[in-house]
Amino acid sequence: MAETKKSLLTEISTPVLDSNDRVTIVGGGQVGMACAFTILTQGISSDVVLIDVDEKKMQGELLDLQHGSLFLRNPRIDAGKDYAKSANSKICIITAGARQREGESRLNLVQRNTDIFKTIIPQLVKYSPDTIFLVVSNPCDVLTYVTWKISGFPKNRVIGSGTNLDSSRFRFLLSQKLGVAPSSCHGYIIGEHGDSSVAVWSGVNVAGVCLRELNPEAGTAKDEEKWKEIHKQVIDGAYEVIKLKGYTSWAVGLSVGSIVRSILRNSSELHAISVNVKGIHGIKEEVFLSLPAILGKNGLTKIVKQKLEEVELQKLRECAKMINEVQSGLVI
Ligand code: NAI
Ligand code: LAC
Repeated sequence: MAETKKSLLTEISTPVLDSNDRVTIVGGGQVGMACAFTILTQGISSDVVLIDVDEKKMQGELLDLQHGSLFLRNPRIDAGKDYAKSANSKICIITAGARQREGESRLNLVQRNTDIFKTIIPQLVKYSPDTIFLVVSNPCDVLTYVTWKISGFPKNRVIGSGTNLDSSRFRFLLSQKLGVAPSSCHGYIIGEHGDSSVAVWSGVNVAGVCLRELNPEAGTAKDEEKWKEIHKQVIDGAYEVIKLKGYTSWAVGLSVGSIVRSILRNSSELHAISVNVKGIHGIKEEVFLSLPAILGKNGLTKIVKQKLEEVELQKLRECAKMINEVQSGLVI
């Protein structure tokens, strides 16, 4: 120990450097940095690694975040393009890749981002063979399937952020219409994180009072109160934000932070996330779609068997067929 430091400090034991809650984020762009900022400012992890091909930007992001360490209770933060920095990560979040341009759908990104994943996933597996993958890049559900295929990991350790974000948008819009906080407006968007998501109107409730008990047409085209419009706003939401600011970031960063917190705290909290749904709700295809799922230290632990209405089941099965068609054209 240097002389001054020795004069200042009496060392009692050697500090442990491995915090045992390391989270690596690959893709330090708008989404990746929103995820990192959420995870650090909410104290979700004390050990964050940022990996990106743009090494110079990562050095800048690292310095900028380190300058705020005083306000972050001194987390360990590292950044660069060397995947060795990610070693022994509990969770690897992937936010790397192209994003939609105005008017472009998420599915338009599929081969471009699959090709990027083919370089990223093997490197993460090499340094963190026991990690849990959390896929955010779009098209999220297809890229979660791609990650599962490339990594060879069990289903519980490959999930996508899926409709956790869509459900957050849905509950915000419900809350605006009802004047009740989103945390007390219960409702799920399931299926594709995208244009063919499914709103489970049959399950929307406040304190156990189901919307459909009060308005049996809620969510249907016949409904005079036009509740169905809320799901359209959920689907259009990302396009609207992209048109206005060029990308979406804050909501998905908060959404990803909530998923990471549930895993690291082993909290058994429920999230609508993209999981392997083959054999569930009569789905025959090997695809990843969002269903309400319970998360813990080893990733996905349980999937809730929602009692879906026939129309909701049909939409979910059609979504599975569509995603499977997209996947079948992929070169992985
Ligand atoms: P961005 O362009 O700001 O950032 C992407 C980052 O990926 C860049 O920093 C780039 O250098 C990096 N990158 C590219 N190739 C790489 C590679 N081979 N290895 C490591 N890093 C690489 O884009 P943004 O806005 O952050 O979006 C990222 C992705 O997240 C997009 O696919 C977007 O559609 C998706 N997204 C998903 C959401 C969801 O809810 N699932 C919500 C919002 C965005
Ligand atoms: C979203 C898109 C970009 O914000 O996936 O939902």
